[in-house]
Amino acid sequence: MSEAQDFTREELEDRVQDYINTQANLDLLRFITCGSVDDGKSTLIGRMLYEAQLVFEDQVTSLQQDSKKVGTQGGDIDFALLVDGLAAEREQGITIDVAYRFFSTDHRKFIVADTPGHEQYTRNMVTGASTADVAVILVDAENGILTQTRRHSFITSLLGIRHVVLAVNKMDLVDYDRAVYDRIVEEYREFAKQLNFEHITPIPLSALKGDNVIERSVRTHWYTGPTLLGFLETVDVHHDTEESLRFPVQWVNRPNREFRGFSGTVVAGSVAKGDEIRILPSGEVASVKDILLYKDSLEHAQTDQAVTLTLDREVDVSRGDVIVASDSPCEVSDQFDASLVWMDSEQGYIGRSYWLMLGTTRINATLTDIKFKYNINTLDRLSTEAFDLNDIGRVTLSFDKGVPFEAYSACKGMGSFVLVDRYTHATVGAGMINFALRRAKNIHRHAHAVDKESHARLKGHKGKVLWMTGLSGSGKSTVANAVEQALHAEGKHTFILDGDNIRHGLNKDLGFTDADRVENIRRTAEVAKLMVDAGLIVITAFISPFRSERDMARALFDEDEFLEIYLDVPLEVAEERDPKGLYKKARRGDLPHFTGIDSPYEAPESAEISLRTADMPIEQCVEEVLKHV
Ligand code: ADX
Repeated sequence: MSEAQDFTREELEDRVQDYINTQANLDLLRFITCGSVDDGKSTLIGRMLYEAQLVFEDQVTSLQQDSKKVGTQGGDIDFALLVDGLAAEREQGITIDVAYRFFSTDHRKFIVADTPGHEQYTRNMVTGASTADVAVILVDAENGILTQTRRHSFITSLLGIRHVVLAVNKMDLVDYDRAVYDRIVEEYREFAKQLNFEHITPIPLSALKGDNVIERSVRTHWYTGPTLLGFLETVDVHHDTEESLRFPVQWVNRPNREFRGFSGTVVAGSVAKGDEIRILPSGEVASVKDILLYKDSLEHAQTDQAVTLTLDREVDVSRGDVIVASDSPCEVSDQFDASLVWMDSEQGYIGRSYWLMLGTTRINATLTDIKFKYNINTLDRLSTEAFDLNDIGRVTLSFDKGVPFEAYSACKGMGSFVLVDRYTHATVGAGMINFALRRAKNIHRHAHAVDKESHARLKGHKGKVLWMTGLSGSGKSTVANAVEQALHAEGKHTFILDGDNIRHGLNKDLGFTDADRVENIRRTAEVAKLMVDAGLIVITAFISPFRSERDMARALFDEDEFLEIYLDVPLEVAEERDPKGLYKKARRGDLPHFTGIDSPYEAPESAEISLRTADMPIEQCVEEVLKHV
């Protein structure tokens, strides 16, 4: 066993790999522990390691010193300190990150992911659980089943873990009362009926006193099942389904003109020299010429092995492509249905785009629909427009191109992803793919004989968008009007899309919540795109307060077609102008979600044009814009 430390993810993965490679004769079991803050998780693991004599002497020594220092358990050893390796945890008395620990007995070797119990750390649980075969879900006998227990169980089920230990801990505090234990087990079984577990093994425990952790306890003489370690040593988690080759290409290895190899890890199945393979999404077929591990040439490679493949012919392969068995390809689609756990304190909205990290690729993804989210206590489905921290629901995600993937139930490695905020780079969600959506495949774009170029030729100029953004009262409509007049006078074909007007028609179903504003901008951008295709110079005047949606709009157009124009006025100036009396209303509290007052405005960081309308006469603003058109 190793002392817990603060590792980067890569370092942690390396250590896990090293451990997997040691004691190769022993079968490996990966499990997670989850529970609420005070359920006694760390104490339980500490007790297990200590009793099984898996702790080295010097660690016991330092442990005793620490216990004295912190003194949460009188003079006794505090087992929680053995595993709560992070300094912050010791100070706060809580567990704050996911930590892997390695230990082995004569029968098996184990990797345990210890994951924290706070609501805000669901993300750690997802990280820890994605590779686990068994989940040990802790319940405090005094408190019974909590929302937290249900949430952890639900995520465990979503992540495809089939074996659950319901560890009813702190039995010493309820006098080893069988009735208390039975009630908790019954309530849990009732809840878990809706989840996909194969086995639930309840065990009455006291991690503190050591009952049923390794030794069977006489104080629970009424209990006849296994001890915790006994169960973990013997549970059968092998699934011997035949898997087909899945090899996401991590990088194209091209040291010189002669050599071209594709490096990555075999995520599922195996590959042998001479195998016929297919490259996705292109669909090209080739044969495996060689399988390289450093300088060695292998006959074949198995799941989890990192190798470099060379092929018998020149084919187009790039990072993120997936090499699969030619007769058993995976899905390729530009849309899928997924279960999503939201992990950010910022809400997630329908219509917003994120980076989606899937296998070895990063793709632009739009959250096109939230079908529902779950009430964690009842598992009822609730309709919603946005996800809050820790929400779990079903969504549709779509991409601008076809992406190879697989359902999570068929292949964890090809079916799990995380969503990342494009600006903060924070992980905002973790998801499991359920299935490809066929819809996208059955809607084909028509190629029209009179195309965008023909429209432009007839108009005498190309289509363009002048995207004005700024606070209410910053002058968007005024500048838009003046610019349109000037362009019109030059014989250009123009059109204004103005928030106030569009919200009376096309978008009259939308209000001013963040979710509605995202949709307001999405529709507007799509309309503007149609108009640009028709050869018009479109001037939009919307607050468009979020960077993310302005960038989404930008992404719909060619580089030279989109100009972002920031009407840069201080809030005080806009409020002073207050042309519609709305700031006054908002300050009185009569207009909720008003931009600049109680709803944010994210100023552009790289707009093509900035207009300080407070100091610039309107003619100068127009001139500035026309310079760019
Ligand atoms: S956006 O944020 O979704 O881009 P949009 O430009 O369409 O907003 O509409 C803004 C206009 O709606 C403002 O100029 C103002 O006249 C009006 N309005 C009404 N309520 C609000 C509000 N809560 N916040 C901002 N503008 C509002």
